[in-house]
Amino acid sequence: MNGRTFLLVVSALLGSLMSSCRRDSKEAAAPCAAVTTPYQLDHPSYFPKPLIPNDNPLTREGVALGRMLYYDTLLSRNGPFEGFACASCHDQARSFTVPTSGTNVLPHVNLAWSTHFLWNGKVSGTLEDVMRFEVNDFFQVDINVLKEHRDYPKRFRQAFGTCDLTSDQVVKALAQWFRRMSSTNNKFDRYLTGQTNLTTAELQGAMLFLSEVGDCFHCHATPLMTDNAFHNIGLETSFTGFDVGRYAITGAPMDMGAFKTPTLRNIALTAPYMHDGRFQTLEEVVEFYNSGVQHSASLDPLMTKPGTGLQLGLSPEQRSDLVAFLHTLSDDTFLTDPELASPF
Ligand code: HEC
Ligand code: HEC
Repeated sequence: MNGRTFLLVVSALLGSLMSSCRRDSKEAAAPCAAVTTPYQLDHPSYFPKPLIPNDNPLTREGVALGRMLYYDTLLSRNGPFEGFACASCHDQARSFTVPTSGTNVLPHVNLAWSTHFLWNGKVSGTLEDVMRFEVNDFFQVDINVLKEHRDYPKRFRQAFGTCDLTSDQVVKALAQWFRRMSSTNNKFDRYLTGQTNLTTAELQGAMLFLSEVGDCFHCHATPLMTDNAFHNIGLETSFTGFDVGRYAITGAPMDMGAFKTPTLRNIALTAPYMHDGRFQTLEEVVEFYNSGVQHSASLDPLMTKPGTGLQLGLSPEQRSDLVAFLHTLSDDTFLTDPELASPF
């Protein structure tokens, strides 16, 4: 390389350096592009594929941000639930519920596989759709509180790669976090994968649950332990107020008194039971299915058993076996997973 070429090369280099500096300074208002790390969800092979919209793939940054928002009372600042975090009513140790006297709190378990949300299915669609409801209508999140925070704007940039912090990003981060809240490792899962045995009572209970004898599996279908549908299971003979259930949304007579089938994963931890919390124990629930089902025009046909009508006619031993099986659905890894606990 002679002196002249050298100079040319140097000036070309300088030129490109300078133009890249110029580009940087011109775009200084938007230094917000981010490099995110994909987050791999892990589920047993007998689980269906979860629904993940193309415009909200899971990232480490997004899941971590959603977790913070979930546990932060800042999210409710200036709204009707000021002072609350999501986690105030959704406690990990109780499978993300707390006991209340009003409408029973629904757990946050495996909602990545849900398409209808809330007891009467008021919101249908993806987790993004229900988070939009929670963020905008329920908590009425004041986005300025997050924008003015010393830390959150940076975290939103790192997760979404734009300068503009929006409520849509709050929705997306929370939806990513909800997809992380999966429970797939209870004693029954470990039995199905050959890692453990069930006691005789648990096994008898499983057979009752999964056969026409107890007939629970049609609605509490494995592996999610819910069919994600709505049923009137016969708690009442007539319905008013919130008890009309799905009817309030669809106006269809057959939906009168019908509610979302809750998952039974971690059911031993989420007392009281049913949409109105009327039962305190699993024994009471099983007794209801055994002998307490009441007739009404919209009663789900599955509740009428061939031969025994509205009664299951289970012996005391069968009832206690069924309860023993329900206890195998508790997932200690989920209930105590430090990655699902408060980050604060
Ligand atoms: C004051 C208590 C309370 C707080 C705080 C709360 N929830 Fe809930 N959550 C409930 C109750 C009660 C239900 C059941 C209500 C219904 O179905 O009508 C519920 C249900 C849900 C459901 C539906 C679950 C399903 O299976 O369909 C989602 C999703 C949810 N909450 C998310 C959130 C998020 C996100 C936050 C924070 C932004 C939050 N909740 C804060 C009490 C609360
Ligand atoms: C026809 C569908 C259907 C069948 C069959 C059925 N369930 Fe349910 N189950 C539901 C629905 C829907 C609810 C919620 C009802 C409500 O709150 O009004 C529910 C609620 C429950 C709850 C309380 C859940 C909670 O989070 O509060 C338990 C426990 C339960 N069922 C266990 C069983 C068992 C055990 C059997 C079999 C003996 C059974 N179910 C059969 C649909 C069904």
